[in-house]
Amino acid sequence: MIGKTLSHYRILDRLGEIEMALAGGGCGVSPWRGSPHGRPVAADAGVAFLQWALPRLGLRWPGFRKVRGQVLKRVGRRMRDLGLASLDDYRRRLASDPAEWSVLSDLCRVTISRFRRDRGVWDALGEVVLPGLARRATAAGARTLRCWSAGCASGEEPHTLAILWRLELADRYPGLRLDVLATDIDEAVLARAGRAVYPRSALKEVPDRWLEVAFAPDGAGTRGDRSADDVFTLRPEFRAPIRFVRHDLAADPPPGDPGGFQLILCRNLAFTYLDLENQRRVLGMLRERLAEGGVLVVGAHEELPDGGPGFSPGPVREVHRRARTEKKPNHERI
Ligand SMILES: C[S@@+](CC[C@H](N)C(=O)[O-])C[C@H]1O[C@@H](n2cnc3c(N)ncnc32)[C@H](O)[C@@H]1O
Repeated sequence: MIGKTLSHYRILDRLGEIEMALAGGGCGVSPWRGSPHGRPVAADAGVAFLQWALPRLGLRWPGFRKVRGQVLKRVGRRMRDLGLASLDDYRRRLASDPAEWSVLSDLCRVTISRFRRDRGVWDALGEVVLPGLARRATAAGARTLRCWSAGCASGEEPHTLAILWRLELADRYPGLRLDVLATDIDEAVLARAGRAVYPRSALKEVPDRWLEVAFAPDGAGTRGDRSADDVFTLRPEFRAPIRFVRHDLAADPPPGDPGGFQLILCRNLAFTYLDLENQRRVLGMLRERLAEGGVLVVGAHEELPDGGPGFSPGPVREVHRRARTEKKPNHERI
């Protein structure tokens, strides 16, 4: 029921974005000032509502500042569907119906992504980080480089990793296979990830060579030429190393084995949207899932909580290396 409701809201979101684009506006960054698609929510009241509701969902307001317009638009539509006139009415609904919190949590999900997002970090991954991890794995006799993309959205991030590996690195490490677990809480984005069909806008940071080799143009934009409306399908050989699985980073037990991943990408999710307590818990879980010397990559605007205990800085600010666990002298062991 919730899933059905959510996809309904996502379609309306898309219509709203198109409407805003036609009106010359951006999307997801300005306070919503009203639309035929939902109840008008005054900007100030909307911010006050989010500042009240987000901590109750284990989320933090500063992460939502830039996307508040998009979230409030969804809340306005939800209010209209429930026949509620004001945010005060919606608060009362939340107080009387605990299941509504789960709907609100879904409405607060941000799924924006694109291929090779923040290209500087991908350059560092290709030039320094992945070669280092591959050398260590090869020296240790491993045949697989295990990676986890946590909060993978529609697959843009793990697919970028797979393209980078196959086109730039795989030839140098013939005995090593890339294996990527890609997880997200949202079934709809996982279904899109499985289809691996992307609009040109998701590929604007992809080099021409990657585009030519890794994607099949499905052509046919509305103008019949290679236009902004073109869509591109990722070729199967670049999809093969990736398994897409539903997983809630904030609630489910971590996937994989302790120390099982050489690389974890957790970008623009935990360290932007979750509150400090959840960030600490997630960081502990990610650290535990990383092999010693393994690497955690976060978003370009994200910091690890408490300075990232158990991690040392990598070659760029988004990259953190899991420190070796100090072996305690015998007399300190229990
Ligand atoms: C803004 S996107 C980031 C995508 C990609 N990592 C990137 O940086 O481009 C955040 C993704 O995290 C997912 N997400 C939100 N809460 C989550 C949770 N508790 N567990 C797993 N995924 C979650 C959303 O569905 C969304 O696809």
